[in-house]
Amino acid sequence: MKKSVSRRNFFNQTIGIGAGALLLPLFPKINLRSSADRNKPLIITSHSNETGQKAMETGWEVLMKGGSAVDAVEKAANIIEVDPEDTSVGYGGLPNERGVVQLDASFMDGKTYSAGAVACLENIKTPASVAKLVMQHTDHVILVGTGALEFAKAWGFAEENLLTEKARKIWLRWKEEMSPADDWGAPEHLQNIMKKESYRKDFPDIEHHYGTTNVLAIDTNGDIAGCTTTSGLSFKLNGRIGDSPIIGAGLYVDNEVGAAGATGRGEDVIKSCASYYIVLRMKEGRTPQQACEDALRMIVDRYRKVNPDYFPSEKFVAINRVC
Ligand code: GLY
Repeated sequence: MKKSVSRRNFFNQTIGIGAGALLLPLFPKINLRSSADRNKPLIITSHSNETGQKAMETGWEVLMKGGSAVDAVEKAANIIEVDPEDTSVGYGGLPNERGVVQLDASFMDGKTYSAGAVACLENIKTPASVAKLVMQHTDHVILVGTGALEFAKAWGFAEENLLTEKARKIWLRWKEEMSPADDWGAPEHLQNIMKKESYRKDFPDIEHHYGTTNVLAIDTNGDIAGCTTTSGLSFKLNGRIGDSPIIGAGLYVDNEVGAAGATGRGEDVIKSCASYYIVLRMKEGRTPQQACEDALRMIVDRYRKVNPDYFPSEKFVAINRVC
Protein backbone atom coordinates (compact mmCIF):
# COMPACT_ATOMS: atom_id res chain seq x y z
CA MET A 1 0.00 0.00 0.00
CA LYS A 2 1.50 3.31 -1.06
CA LYS A 3 -1.19 5.71 0.00
CA SER A 4 0.25 9.15 0.46
CA VAL A 5 -0.51 11.41 3.39
CA SER A 6 1.42 14.32 1.94
CA ARG A 7 -1.36 16.82 2.59
CA ARG A 8 -0.61 16.46 6.20
CA ASN A 9 2.67 18.25 5.73
CA PHE A 10 4.96 15.51 6.89
CA PHE A 11 8.53 16.39 7.48
CA ASN A 12 11.38 14.70 5.70
CA GLN A 13 12.44 13.17 8.90
CA THR A 14 11.86 9.52 9.41
CA ILE A 15 13.54 8.44 12.59
CA GLY A 16 12.93 10.05 15.89
CA ILE A 17 14.27 8.80 19.16
CA GLY A 18 13.17 10.36 22.39
CA ALA A 19 15.47 9.52 25.27
CA GLY A 20 14.07 8.84 28.69
CA ALA A 21 14.92 12.20 30.11
CA LEU A 22 13.29 15.50 29.58
CA LEU A 23 16.66 17.15 29.29
CA LEU A 24 16.78 18.09 25.66
CA PRO A 25 20.57 17.96 25.28
CA LEU A 26 20.31 14.26 26.12
CA PHE A 27 18.17 13.48 23.11
CA PRO A 28 20.24 11.44 20.69
CA LYS A 29 21.01 12.84 17.29
CA ILE A 30 18.36 11.95 14.76
CA ASN A 31 18.86 10.58 11.29
CA LEU A 32 17.20 12.38 8.45
CA ARG A 33 15.73 10.94 5.30
CA SER A 34 14.67 12.91 2.30
CA SER A 35 11.77 12.28 -0.03
CA ALA A 36 14.28 10.55 -2.31
CA ASP A 37 14.40 7.82 0.32
CA ARG A 38 10.67 7.24 0.04
CA ASN A 39 10.93 3.71 -1.37
CA LYS A 40 13.89 2.66 0.69
CA PRO A 41 13.34 0.24 3.54
CA LEU A 42 14.25 1.05 7.09
CA ILE A 43 14.66 -0.82 10.36
CA ILE A 44 15.43 0.51 13.84
CA THR A 45 15.66 -0.83 17.38
CA SER A 46 15.92 0.67 20.83
CA HIS A 47 18.75 -1.77 21.58
CA SER A 48 22.03 0.03 21.00
CA ASN A 49 24.41 -2.79 21.96
CA GLU A 50 26.19 -5.34 19.74
CA THR A 51 23.22 -7.69 19.78
CA GLY A 52 21.02 -4.81 18.63
CA GLN A 53 23.44 -4.26 15.76
CA LYS A 54 23.32 -7.94 14.83
CA ALA A 55 19.53 -7.82 15.03
CA MET A 56 19.47 -4.87 12.65
CA GLU A 57 21.75 -6.66 10.18
CA THR A 58 19.44 -9.69 10.27
CA GLY A 59 16.29 -7.60 9.78
CA TRP A 60 17.95 -5.56 7.06
CA GLU A 61 18.85 -8.70 5.14
CA VAL A 62 15.18 -9.73 5.14
CA LEU A 63 14.17 -6.29 3.84
CA MET A 64 16.89 -6.28 1.18
CA LYS A 65 15.60 -9.57 -0.18
CA GLY A 66 12.18 -7.99 -0.58
CA GLY A 67 10.81 -9.53 2.64
CA SER A 68 7.99 -7.94 4.58
CA ALA A 69 8.39 -5.53 7.48
CA VAL A 70 6.56 -8.09 9.63
CA ASP A 71 9.16 -10.79 8.90
CA ALA A 72 12.10 -8.40 9.26
CA VAL A 73 10.88 -7.21 12.64
CA GLU A 74 10.33 -10.76 13.88
CA LYS A 75 13.76 -12.01 12.80
CA ALA A 76 15.47 -8.98 14.33
CA ALA A 77 13.56 -9.24 17.63
CA ASN A 78 14.38 -12.96 17.90
CA ILE A 79 18.13 -12.19 17.81
CA ILE A 80 17.76 -10.01 20.89
CA GLU A 81 15.37 -12.41 22.64
CA VAL A 82 17.70 -15.43 22.48
CA ASP A 83 20.79 -13.56 23.72
CA PRO A 84 21.49 -15.13 27.16
CA GLU A 85 23.58 -12.14 28.23
CA ASP A 86 20.69 -9.70 27.86
CA THR A 87 18.90 -9.46 31.19
CA SER A 88 15.98 -7.37 29.91
CA VAL A 89 14.47 -9.41 27.08
CA GLY A 90 13.59 -13.07 26.41
CA TYR A 91 15.99 -15.85 27.44
CA GLY A 92 18.26 -14.59 30.23
CA GLY A 93 15.80 -11.88 31.26
CA LEU A 94 15.60 -11.11 34.97
CA PRO A 95 12.82 -13.08 36.68
CA ASN A 96 9.87 -12.02 38.80
CA GLU A 97 9.99 -12.01 42.60
CA ARG A 98 9.53 -15.81 42.65
CA GLY A 99 12.48 -16.39 40.35
CA VAL A 100 10.26 -17.18 37.35
CA VAL A 101 10.93 -15.50 34.00
CA GLN A 102 7.62 -14.16 32.62
CA LEU A 103 7.80 -12.55 29.19
CA ASP A 104 5.59 -9.96 27.48
CA ALA A 105 5.56 -9.11 23.76
CA SER A 106 3.38 -7.44 21.14
CA PHE A 107 3.34 -7.26 17.38
CA MET A 108 1.47 -4.94 15.03
CA ASP A 109 1.07 -4.86 11.26
CA GLY A 110 0.40 -1.32 10.06
CA LYS A 111 -1.00 -2.47 6.73
CA THR A 112 -3.92 -4.41 8.22
CA TYR A 113 -4.03 -2.78 11.67
CA SER A 114 -3.90 -6.30 13.06
CA ALA A 115 -2.18 -6.89 16.37
CA GLY A 116 -1.21 -9.78 18.62
CA ALA A 117 0.39 -10.06 22.03
CA VAL A 118 1.37 -12.45 24.78
CA ALA A 119 1.78 -11.63 28.45
CA CYS A 120 3.27 -13.53 31.39
CA LEU A 121 4.46 -16.17 28.97
CA GLU A 122 6.82 -18.68 30.60
CA ASN A 123 9.36 -21.12 29.11
CA ILE A 124 9.33 -19.84 25.53
CA LYS A 125 12.46 -18.05 24.31
CA THR A 126 10.87 -16.00 21.51
CA PRO A 127 7.61 -14.38 22.65
CA ALA A 128 7.71 -11.97 19.68
CA SER A 129 7.11 -14.92 17.34
CA VAL A 130 4.21 -16.15 19.47
CA ALA A 131 2.72 -12.63 19.44
CA LYS A 132 3.05 -12.59 15.66
CA LEU A 133 1.14 -15.88 15.42
CA VAL A 134 -1.61 -14.52 17.71
CA MET A 135 -1.84 -11.59 15.29
CA GLN A 136 -1.90 -13.70 12.15
CA HIS A 137 -3.89 -16.76 13.22
CA THR A 138 -6.52 -15.61 15.70
CA ASP A 139 -8.94 -12.74 16.00
CA HIS A 140 -7.82 -12.19 19.60
CA VAL A 141 -5.23 -9.62 20.55
CA ILE A 142 -3.73 -10.80 23.86
CA LEU A 143 -3.14 -14.25 25.28
CA VAL A 144 -1.93 -14.50 28.87
CA GLY A 145 -0.04 -17.04 31.00
CA THR A 146 -0.99 -20.68 30.54
CA GLY A 147 -3.24 -19.79 27.60
CA ALA A 148 -0.32 -18.14 25.82
CA LEU A 149 1.89 -21.12 26.62
CA GLU A 150 -0.68 -23.63 25.32
CA PHE A 151 -1.00 -21.60 22.13
CA ALA A 152 2.80 -21.50 21.68
CA LYS A 153 3.13 -25.25 22.24
CA ALA A 154 0.34 -25.91 19.77
CA TRP A 155 2.45 -24.04 17.22
CA GLY A 156 5.45 -26.23 18.01
CA PHE A 157 7.48 -23.98 20.29
CA ALA A 158 9.66 -25.97 22.69
CA GLU A 159 9.45 -25.27 26.41
CA GLU A 160 12.82 -24.34 27.87
CA ASN A 161 14.15 -23.03 31.17
CA LEU A 162 14.65 -19.29 30.62
CA LEU A 163 16.43 -18.57 33.92
CA THR A 164 20.15 -18.39 33.18
CA GLU A 165 22.78 -18.73 35.90
CA LYS A 166 23.55 -15.04 35.53
CA ALA A 167 19.92 -14.01 36.03
CA ARG A 168 19.45 -16.47 38.91
CA LYS A 169 22.46 -15.03 40.76
CA ILE A 170 21.18 -11.48 40.32
CA TRP A 171 17.74 -12.52 41.56
CA LEU A 172 19.27 -14.27 44.62
CA ARG A 173 21.33 -11.19 45.40
CA TRP A 174 18.17 -9.08 45.17
CA LYS A 175 16.52 -11.33 47.73
CA GLU A 176 19.57 -11.22 49.98
CA GLU A 177 19.73 -7.45 49.88
CA MET A 178 16.09 -6.94 50.84
CA SER A 179 15.54 -5.49 54.27
CA PRO A 180 12.45 -5.49 56.51
CA ALA A 181 11.90 -1.88 55.39
CA ASP A 182 11.63 -2.89 51.77
CA ASP A 183 8.25 -2.91 50.14
CA TRP A 184 6.93 -5.48 47.68
CA GLY A 185 8.44 -4.49 44.39
CA ALA A 186 7.87 -0.76 44.80
CA PRO A 187 10.01 1.11 42.29
CA GLU A 188 11.87 3.24 44.84
CA HIS A 189 12.83 0.21 46.84
CA LEU A 190 13.97 -1.59 43.73
CA GLN A 191 16.09 1.34 42.69
CA ASN A 192 17.58 1.60 46.15
CA ILE A 193 18.67 -1.99 46.02
CA MET A 194 20.17 -1.56 42.59
CA LYS A 195 22.14 1.44 43.81
CA LYS A 196 23.71 -0.48 46.71
CA GLU A 197 27.42 -0.57 46.29
CA SER A 198 27.79 -4.34 46.65
CA TYR A 199 25.15 -4.95 44.00
CA ARG A 200 26.70 -2.46 41.59
CA LYS A 201 30.13 -4.00 42.10
CA ASP A 202 29.00 -7.55 41.36
CA PHE A 203 26.59 -6.67 38.57
CA PRO A 204 28.01 -3.53 36.93
CA ASP A 205 26.22 -4.08 33.64
CA ILE A 206 22.71 -4.32 35.07
CA GLU A 207 21.35 -0.92 34.20
CA HIS A 208 17.88 -1.42 32.84
CA HIS A 209 15.37 -2.78 35.27
CA TYR A 210 12.47 -2.04 32.96
CA GLY A 211 14.59 -3.02 29.97
CA THR A 212 12.70 -3.84 26.81
CA THR A 213 13.35 -3.72 23.11
CA ASN A 214 11.36 -2.23 20.26
CA VAL A 215 11.91 -3.04 16.59
CA LEU A 216 10.18 -0.96 13.89
CA ALA A 217 10.54 -1.40 10.13
CA ILE A 218 9.33 -0.18 6.75
CA ASP A 219 9.68 -2.56 3.80
CA THR A 220 10.14 -1.90 0.10
CA ASN A 221 6.34 -1.81 -0.37
CA GLY A 222 6.15 0.97 2.19
CA ASP A 223 4.41 -1.28 4.70
CA ILE A 224 5.22 -0.73 8.35
CA ALA A 225 5.38 -3.22 11.25
CA GLY A 226 6.60 -3.18 14.82
CA CYS A 227 7.29 -5.38 17.78
CA THR A 228 7.98 -4.78 21.47
CA THR A 229 9.40 -7.59 23.61
CA THR A 230 10.59 -7.76 27.22
CA SER A 231 11.08 -9.74 30.42
CA GLY A 232 9.48 -6.72 32.09
CA LEU A 233 10.18 -5.07 35.38
CA SER A 234 12.76 -7.17 37.20
CA PHE A 235 11.51 -8.92 40.37
CA LYS A 236 7.95 -7.86 39.57
CA LEU A 237 4.99 -9.39 41.36
CA ASN A 238 3.93 -12.72 39.97
CA GLY A 239 1.49 -12.00 37.13
CA ARG A 240 2.41 -8.33 36.64
CA ILE A 241 2.01 -7.21 33.02
CA GLY A 242 3.79 -4.13 31.73
CA ASP A 243 3.18 -1.90 28.74
CA SER A 244 4.95 -4.08 26.17
CA PRO A 245 1.99 -6.35 25.30
CA ILE A 246 -0.54 -3.51 25.47
CA ILE A 247 -1.28 -2.14 22.00
CA GLY A 248 -1.24 1.66 22.15
CA ALA A 249 1.04 1.65 25.20
CA GLY A 250 4.25 -0.26 24.38
CA LEU A 251 3.62 -0.30 20.62
CA TYR A 252 1.48 1.23 17.91
CA VAL A 253 1.74 1.06 14.12
CA ASP A 254 -0.29 2.79 11.41
CA ASN A 255 0.78 2.37 7.79
CA GLU A 256 -0.46 5.82 6.86
CA VAL A 257 1.49 7.57 9.60
CA GLY A 258 4.31 5.55 11.15
CA ALA A 259 5.10 3.55 14.25
CA ALA A 260 6.18 4.06 17.85
CA GLY A 261 7.41 1.88 20.67
CA ALA A 262 8.20 2.43 24.33
CA THR A 263 10.64 1.16 26.91
CA GLY A 264 10.88 2.18 30.56
CA ARG A 265 8.43 1.93 33.42
CA GLY A 266 5.43 0.16 31.93
CA GLU A 267 2.89 1.46 34.40
CA ASP A 268 3.50 5.06 33.33
CA VAL A 269 3.45 4.12 29.66
CA ILE A 270 0.14 2.24 30.04
CA LYS A 271 -1.51 5.12 31.86
CA SER A 272 -0.49 7.55 29.14
CA CYS A 273 -1.16 5.33 26.06
CA ALA A 274 2.20 6.67 24.97
CA SER A 275 2.84 4.87 21.67
CA TYR A 276 -0.64 5.70 20.35
CA TYR A 277 -0.16 9.29 21.48
CA ILE A 278 3.12 9.52 19.55
CA VAL A 279 1.54 8.18 16.37
CA LEU A 280 -1.38 10.62 16.77
CA ARG A 281 1.06 13.49 17.18
CA MET A 282 2.89 12.43 14.01
CA LYS A 283 -0.46 12.32 12.21
CA GLU A 284 -0.94 15.92 13.28
CA GLY A 285 2.32 16.80 11.56
CA ARG A 286 4.86 16.47 14.35
CA THR A 287 8.16 14.83 13.43
CA PRO A 288 9.00 11.55 15.18
CA GLN A 289 11.50 13.41 17.37
CA GLN A 290 8.95 16.04 18.32
CA ALA A 291 6.23 13.46 18.90
CA CYS A 292 8.49 11.44 21.25
CA GLU A 293 9.33 14.61 23.15
CA ASP A 294 5.63 15.50 23.33
CA ALA A 295 4.90 12.15 24.94
CA LEU A 296 7.65 12.60 27.51
CA ARG A 297 6.42 16.09 28.32
CA MET A 298 2.86 14.84 28.67
CA ILE A 299 4.00 12.15 31.13
CA VAL A 300 6.22 14.48 33.12
CA ASP A 301 3.57 17.23 33.30
CA ARG A 302 1.05 14.78 34.68
CA TYR A 303 3.20 13.09 37.28
CA ARG A 304 4.99 16.20 38.48
CA LYS A 305 1.61 17.55 39.52
CA VAL A 306 1.50 14.73 42.03
CA ASN A 307 5.21 14.30 42.70
CA PRO A 308 7.42 17.32 41.88
CA ASP A 309 10.51 15.07 41.93
CA TYR A 310 9.12 12.67 39.34
CA PHE A 311 11.74 11.80 36.73
CA PRO A 312 10.75 9.65 33.76
CA SER A 313 12.44 6.37 32.91
CA GLU A 314 10.64 6.08 29.59
CA LYS A 315 12.32 6.01 26.20
CA PHE A 316 10.55 6.06 22.88
CA VAL A 317 11.44 5.21 19.31
CA ALA A 318 9.36 6.30 16.34
CA ILE A 319 9.45 6.30 12.57
CA ASN A 320 7.17 7.97 10.05
CA ARG A 321 6.50 7.62 6.39
CA VAL A 322 8.41 9.81 3.99
CA CYS A 323 5.95 11.39 1.61
N1 GLY B 1 8.56 -1.53 29.73
C1 GLY B 1 8.66 -2.79 30.29
C2 GLY B 1 7.89 -3.01 31.49
O1 GLY B 1 7.66 -2.11 32.27
O2 GLY B 1 7.49 -4.14 31.71
